[in-house]
Amino acid sequence: MNITPVDQTDSWQDLLDHAESIRDVAIADHFAGNGDRVDQLSHEAAGLYIDFSKNRLNSDTLNLLIALAGEVGLVGHRDAMFEGRRINQTEDRAVLHTALRRPAGDVVTVEAASGGDSDAESTESDDNVTEENVIEGNVTEENVIEDVHQVLDQMAVFAGQVRSEQWTGATGKPIDAVVNIGIGGSDLGPMMAHRALRPYGRPPHSDREIDTRFVSNIDPADVFETLQGLDPETTLFIVVSKTFGTIETLTNARSARQWLLDGLREAHDSEPNGAVAKHFVAVSTNAERVADFGIDTDNMFRFWDWVGGRYSVASAVGLSLMIAVGPDGFRQFLDGMHEMDEHFRQAPLAENLPALMGLISLWYTNFLGAETQAVLPYSDHLSRFPAYLQQLEMESNGKGVDRLGRTLTVDTCPVVWGEPGTNGQHAFYQLIHQGTRIVPSDFIGFVHPSDPVGNHHDLLMANFFAQTEALAFGRDHEDPQRRFTGNRPTTTIMADRLDPLTLGRLIALYEHKTFTMGVIWGINSFDQFGVELGKEMATAIEPELTSDADLEHDPSTNRAIAHYRSRRQL
Ligand code: F6P
Repeated sequence: MNITPVDQTDSWQDLLDHAESIRDVAIADHFAGNGDRVDQLSHEAAGLYIDFSKNRLNSDTLNLLIALAGEVGLVGHRDAMFEGRRINQTEDRAVLHTALRRPAGDVVTVEAASGGDSDAESTESDDNVTEENVIEGNVTEENVIEDVHQVLDQMAVFAGQVRSEQWTGATGKPIDAVVNIGIGGSDLGPMMAHRALRPYGRPPHSDREIDTRFVSNIDPADVFETLQGLDPETTLFIVVSKTFGTIETLTNARSARQWLLDGLREAHDSEPNGAVAKHFVAVSTNAERVADFGIDTDNMFRFWDWVGGRYSVASAVGLSLMIAVGPDGFRQFLDGMHEMDEHFRQAPLAENLPALMGLISLWYTNFLGAETQAVLPYSDHLSRFPAYLQQLEMESNGKGVDRLGRTLTVDTCPVVWGEPGTNGQHAFYQLIHQGTRIVPSDFIGFVHPSDPVGNHHDLLMANFFAQTEALAFGRDHEDPQRRFTGNRPTTTIMADRLDPLTLGRLIALYEHKTFTMGVIWGINSFDQFGVELGKEMATAIEPELTSDADLEHDPSTNRAIAHYRSRRQL
């Protein structure tokens, strides 16, 4: 495994030289000079059509990026992930979200714990990780696919019971609303996917429409507003937390439990027996904490430490989605992910969609000076996809040290952001068309609408095509205010329709894009220590807000807390 810092590789130098030579070549000039450009730079695989031709690069760029991927051992790292090696060295864990979507009967084993000191330096500097033992896997424990399918079956039984009204609340009424309580990966995945697949949760796709809602923020407004209009007798809460120690989730779950018990008492004068057991289920890796909270562990759906929070929507974390779209719809969602997993695992890098997306994003970040990456879905159903990708990419690769703890001397994850088209066109596209910054943008569109209404969809897609053309080729004008310089890079991503299969493919596409970029930078993309400091400090500050003890923070924080304390009394 290569431990040379990426910017000291030969390929990096080659890319720097190459960037100098093509920095000033406009996208229009690339097209003018190569009649085969679209053929060479567009691909169809795993149900997606992706056209990279409106980017500021040529085939030499891609060849050099692929050489860089070769020099840092992307393929070996990729295989190590799929084989269940403990590639998350800082936490000594395997990274096996891809196992969650494999068919029953497959075999994937997890490498046994090292048992010793798990710090990254010893793993890497021992130099005992070679291409050979990566691919063969050296120590195996259990076949995780059996466990995965046992939980999927448990989820399907439960989802079936809720959907068929066999599962009832404490007073015997069927469940008609499901509230997912979780945050980060325990919210964004199922919330984004539920919104994306809303049509698949109602007739004709689904025989039952369940009111599905999500509470994440500790802001009381979230739980308060989300519960408005719900009936405690017919509401089921799914408390989702990998650790079951997350303050937001536990606080929201306690408030929901209080709301349930108060509501049931109000309706029936007394609290029915087993109310919590009939209205609360949990998704977690930590059975002890689930039991401590008061949820029956028979009503717990487990997952494993080798599933990172932001990679967990295919696990039991997706239970609310499975209840909404049904077990068959959920299986299609997993199948879509698996299809993209297999593409990433098998396709040569020159045709490998996630690898190419990662390499091209890296090209802009490290060689052309881009600081952000826009994701612009031409689908209102994908309105939370950019937020989902923010956690996926920025929690994975927003790091300043490499796997060995060495300070990185190259830029890493760009700021990921976006909004659905056409809304964004009437807001921030001004900057993308005429601003001074380079904003590589992924345009995601569909041939068929999820909800056909009049000619809306053709109008939507006309805008989709128009924007990428205008951004790439611009339009000259004698008045500089009205001039469009063009040369604004976009990637076109199209699929037939936004169904469970396609959503699964898209999610896995971006997961493996993120993986590719992390490997090239030499980052461990699977820990997230950067979220810890603020959490710890909030825990210490909370009691200070209601006391008059001396404050021992910095002067600015002291003054802000003192201001809050004094105004809080009013
Ligand atoms: O604070 C960040 C984080 O740890 C995320 O990585 C994770 O998805 C989220 O919090 C929620 O964690 P949990 O599922 O353990 O409640």
